[in-house]
Amino acid sequence: MIDRERNKKLRVINHPILGKDERKKKVIIYVDDKPISAIQGEPILAALLAQGIRVNHITKKMKEPRGLYCGIGRCTDCVMIVNGIPNVRTCVTFVEEGMRIETQEGLGQWKNKK
Ligand code: FES
Repeated sequence: MIDRERNKKLRVINHPILGKDERKKKVIIYVDDKPISAIQGEPILAALLAQGIRVNHITKKMKEPRGLYCGIGRCTDCVMIVNGIPNVRTCVTFVEEGMRIETQEGLGQWKNKK
């Protein structure tokens, strides 16, 4: 069963094979300076989809939005700036308390850690 209640927020809460999601520990991460709740240990991309956030970066040349594509770390459609480091694949990077994530424009720029 997928929770699709508000704004197409996606989170699998009861998987037919894996069962009920019983992960309890929540952490706060910041996406474009906005705090959101995430489950400790989940990929950043999963936390974003659960909040209805689908755009991870904007392409350099065509200025087109990109988000989840392969979901296994093989493409670059999910890259974002994470703790000041550009081009981080968010589908294979796990959330940590207080993590700062930014939508990436083009190739991204290194930023000072906050
Ligand atoms: S969605 Fe392809 S690397 Fe993340």
